[in-house]
Amino acid sequence: MNRLFVMASTALLAFLLMSQTQKPAAKGGALAASIARGKVVYESTCQPCHMADGGGAPNMNPPLSRTKWVLGDKVKLAQIVLKGLPGGQIEIDGDTFHNPMPAQESVLSDQQIADVLTFVRNNFGNKASAVTVAEVKASRGRMK
Ligand code: HEC
Repeated sequence: MNRLFVMASTALLAFLLMSQTQKPAAKGGALAASIARGKVVYESTCQPCHMADGGGAPNMNPPLSRTKWVLGDKVKLAQIVLKGLPGGQIEIDGDTFHNPMPAQESVLSDQQIADVLTFVRNNFGNKASAVTVAEVKASRGRMK
């Protein structure tokens, strides 16, 4: 009886410990997985213009480190990637950028856009919340 009680409470304790440690780990795992997938998208789709270090190219392509667009409203951010920009729309520290940015709405999936923006928001000196597929979908919904 006593031994059974010890075994049962040990099992319960082990279960509680596991569920305690697994919850945050699972969450971190999902974020890390999105960042890892986003890196692949970044390297093939964004890096030619915004560069490996997110520094951009003077007068041509803007940097992605701590800008108000990268760290700001996620719907607006997703729209920049979905719709692209004609050039000359963005100003950072008095600089403007004259390349056009190509629209990705029929190139990348919602998942790829969520992942690449989550990657960008957690690299190049940025530390911000993940962008979800639902947020990208909402951005598509708000476009004309
Ligand atoms: C052909 C070059 C090119 C590619 C490819 C490109 N961009 Fe851009 N991007 C630009 C230019 C140029 C601007 C500014 C355009 C303007 O001012 O109208 C810009 C603006 C931005 C901005 C807003 C300004 C800032 O620096 O914070 C973000 C965010 C951004 N791009 C992210 C991305 C992401 C993510 C990808 C890949 C999915 C990507 N871009 C692909 C050229 C590019």
